[in-house]
Amino acid sequence: MKKFVFICLLIIVFSVLWFACSENKNPLPSRTHPQTWDQESAADFHGKKVLAVGTASCSACHGTDFTGGESNVSCYSCHDAYPHKEQWTEISTAGFHGEFIRSENWSLAECRKCHGADYRGGETGISCYQCHTAEGGPEACNVCHGSRDSFAPPKDLSNHIDKTAIGVGAHQFHMSLFKTCSLCHVVPATVADAGHIDDTPNAEVLAAWGWDRNTATCANACHTDTTKTHIWNNF
Ligand code: HEC
Ligand code: HEC
Ligand code: HEC
Ligand code: HEC
Ligand code: HEC
Ligand code: HEC
Repeated sequence: MKKFVFICLLIIVFSVLWFACSENKNPLPSRTHPQTWDQESAADFHGKKVLAVGTASCSACHGTDFTGGESNVSCYSCHDAYPHKEQWTEISTAGFHGEFIRSENWSLAECRKCHGADYRGGETGISCYQCHTAEGGPEACNVCHGSRDSFAPPKDLSNHIDKTAIGVGAHQFHMSLFKTCSLCHVVPATVADAGHIDDTPNAEVLAAWGWDRNTATCANACHTDTTKTHIWNNF
């Protein structure tokens, strides 16, 4: 009989413990940061904190490279461009912001989230127009290809300037004769136009010319002198 009471008591004790524990199934809220740390409209939004005091204090727990450290929460898991890495403003380095943008298929959407929809700085106060001073700022037609004198390459999208590069080729020769991109391309009015920056590799050349990228020649070109082959990047 004593044994039976003991077993009953044990069952009761375990049941009570079970209920007590299972009521706390929800994960604990962040103990490190305020509840509204990830709400943009909140006064203690982490972004506001960083704008006020910088990132130095975050690195103690999120790592000196901000990829997680002791906290295991990487800043890059939510915004892959920030904190900006070293070399972000050093042209011709792997860490340069232009290289990052190229690796994101030329999207500037991420930048606009913090530097403002008009690129004039937004909450960060750092305007892209500081350096990209032309009308349109970083969306000006010669920021990603071309030069001060022409939107057409050189430079091409891989920064080549030599006309043996297929992205450069005989652009300037043709521009000097015909003055317009529309001879060979659908010309976008803005960067965001459909068909401009798309998911297929390389620029589109108007079908009428029968452009063959492998031979870098046009089948239906204006070149009537058939004793010569007109190779786009070898002339
Ligand atoms: C004392 C250590 C510590 C410091 C300093 C720290 N963090 Fe954290 N942070 C954590 C830990 C731990 C987590 C993950 C779990 C948690 O929230 O407790 C986290 C999570 C986060 C998250 C994700 C929150 C969510 O709701 O998913 C953000 C954003 C964040 N931290 C930003 C920052 C920023 C910005 C700074 C610097 C201003 C900073 N942290 C400084 C420890 C820290
Ligand atoms: C859980 C996701 C998350 C994590 C982790 C995170 N952030 Fe953010 N952060 C956001 C969101 C969302 C915004 C609002 C802008 C946007 O939509 O990208 C933002 C904005 C910011 C801003 C810009 C504030 C402004 O108003 O322009 C800064 C600066 C910032 N975060 C710093 C950090 C730093 C530093 C870390 C790592 C220590 C970090 N964040 C980690 C989600 C996160
Ligand atoms: C400190 C000066 C500076 C600031 C600020 C700046 N840029 Fe740049 N950016 C440059 C330079 C220099 C180049 C290289 C130009 C060249 O190759 O002719 C460049 C190149 C680019 C390119 C072309 C990439 C390529 O390789 O062809 C894009 C797109 C771009 N920046 C976007 C932005 C955006 C968006 C902002 C603001 C969020 C910004 N930049 C702020 C200096 C700056
Ligand atoms: C999460 C917010 C956030 C995002 C996303 C972001 N930036 Fe920034 N950026 C900042 C802040 C804050 C600063 C001020 C300096 C710092 O904290 O590094 C800054 C500074 C800069 C600077 C000036 C650096 C210097 O030393 O003069 C350039 C250039 C820049 N950003 C370009 C870009 C480009 C290009 C993109 C998109 C690929 C981008 N940023 C995306 C928040 C952001
Ligand atoms: C005579 C025809 C012709 C004219 C005119 C022309 N292009 Fe091109 N364009 C080409 C050809 C051919 C290619 C190479 C396509 C390929 O890679 O398959 C090309 C490629 C490009 C590329 C991609 C470069 C790269 O790195 O891959 C850009 C950007 C470009 N053109 C912009 C322009 C602009 C802007 C203009 C006017 C200012 C222009 N083009 C005028 C024929 C032309
Ligand atoms: C953010 C970088 C960027 C800016 C700014 C930009 N372009 Fe381009 N442009 C590209 C890329 C990338 C391609 C190659 C797209 C592809 O794969 O078809 C391209 C291709 C082109 C082509 C070749 C035809 C095509 O669509 O493939 C023309 C013409 C052109 N751009 C004109 C312009 C004009 C005009 C502007 C200004 C309104 C402009 N670009 C601004 C990145 C840019």
